Amino acid sequence: MQEVLPPQAECIRQIREWLAERPAQPLAYVHAFGCQLNAAEGEQLAGLLREMGYGLTGDVTKASLILYHTCAVRENAEDRVFGTLGSIKKLKTEDPALLLCVTGCMTAQPSVAEKIAKSYPYVDIVLGTTAVSRLPQMLYAKMQHLQCAWELAPGTDVPEQVQAVRECAFKAAVPIMYGCNNFCTYCIVPYVRGRERSRRPEEILAEVRQLVADGCKEIMLLGQNVNSYGKDLPDGMDFPALLREIDKIEGDYWIRFMSSHPKDASPALLQAVLDGVHIAKHLHLPVQSGSDRILKEMGRRYTVAQYLEIVDYMRGKVPDLSLTTDLIVGFPGETEEDFAATLALMERVRFDNMYSFIYSPRPGTKAAKLDDPTPAAEKSARMQRLLALQRETAVENNRRFVGRTLKVLCDGESKKRPGNMTGRSTENMLVEFPGNAAQLGTFVQVRITESHSGMIAGTCIGKDEQNG
Ligand code: SAM
Ligand code: SF4
Ligand code: F3S
Repeated sequence: MQEVLPPQAECIRQIREWLAERPAQPLAYVHAFGCQLNAAEGEQLAGLLREMGYGLTGDVTKASLILYHTCAVRENAEDRVFGTLGSIKKLKTEDPALLLCVTGCMTAQPSVAEKIAKSYPYVDIVLGTTAVSRLPQMLYAKMQHLQCAWELAPGTDVPEQVQAVRECAFKAAVPIMYGCNNFCTYCIVPYVRGRERSRRPEEILAEVRQLVADGCKEIMLLGQNVNSYGKDLPDGMDFPALLREIDKIEGDYWIRFMSSHPKDASPALLQAVLDGVHIAKHLHLPVQSGSDRILKEMGRRYTVAQYLEIVDYMRGKVPDLSLTTDLIVGFPGETEEDFAATLALMERVRFDNMYSFIYSPRPGTKAAKLDDPTPAAEKSARMQRLLALQRETAVENNRRFVGRTLKVLCDGESKKRPGNMTGRSTENMLVEFPGNAAQLGTFVQVRITESHSGMIAGTCIGKDEQNG
């Protein structure tokens, strides 16, 4: 029988009291696998744990609570989690009081939850994609030794006002919606994340306003398909309107967003990007394949011609627009001809960057039931050809920046070249330049002198003016 648990705020207060009685503050270790949304939720889960009285540690061996926020998008993402759970068993054996929590997309699949129960019985708390809403209650139940079912169903929740512990003070991810309605035939996300739910615009605006006031320089708006934002809201603010409202917030900052489904990339969205003062001139527009036949099988609901129409329209308006994409290689039944069409699309669009994946069958999805006669070795060979073409294109594309001065948000130190700083330009290009740690988190002007395949390099000629 499942117990009735106190509301979240009460659980947080109670856990705080219990933890305060311990001789030393207990530490929590949080690690998020997967996409940027998961990383943002990982920061929210860390925020909740801090609110409950935990200190945070990056050293798993020092933690009294370990939380893995998992991803299910491809099989290797799941394998990584199972591997990690196996390696953590030793810590649990040494300290039986250690609490081990597994949350997120992977555990929203009943088959995975069963496997955890059977093969990793030392896991204490298993929560699906409702983790941010439900962690305090599950933790309370565990600490009270209550009979409490694992909560695995995909969420219907829209967490608000969670104080995230952000890893970076000048770059922040802001989820604007959860779930997905698209059911692309290869994809697990709609099954584990549930239907689309939008956050209220006033909550998003308040969060962004606060971030800008706190000095944040880059705000990434996140959703599986941000172009569907607002369809479920009664007042009907859509994504272009939200972008325009955010753009009105005064300050020196950039707005980025991902992902945009090409089927919903409306002229209104494109116009909002073009008109925006703070909106980066960069579009991440996942195409997945260059073959109409495969796009149809994937259930993407656009054709190559329609995709190219968006690209040409945008490039006509902003010749320098940066375009990035996602591509899947080896979807079931992909022929050499289909793959050649993908390479042809790449040559035509000349993407600045791409995230490419070998198709991974996901249990329960439509595509997982399709015949897939292409040998794995052939798929790998196709991936190598695709990567080689992208490297070539990137070197050529990047040459367009040589001789120009770009506004760059300095975000790190180069690991390969000591004394060099790294950053991203508004086009989202990786830029390196000789500099120093004082530039971290500031906008600088960099004159580009070299182009490579993965980055461009140059000389910093000063702070960006607006940055003061
Ligand atoms: N909602 C985004 C969109 O539609 O563009 C994508 C989100 S998904 C988390 C990120 C990427 O993973 C997808 O664009 C797709 O390229 C890739 N992906 C999703 N399912 C996959 C699968 N079963 N095998 C390989 N790659 C997959
Ligand atoms: Fe997956 Fe398609 Fe939804 Fe993206 S739009 S999350 S690929 S189902
Ligand atoms: Fe993201 Fe992986 Fe879930 S990509 S939405 S964490 S399945």
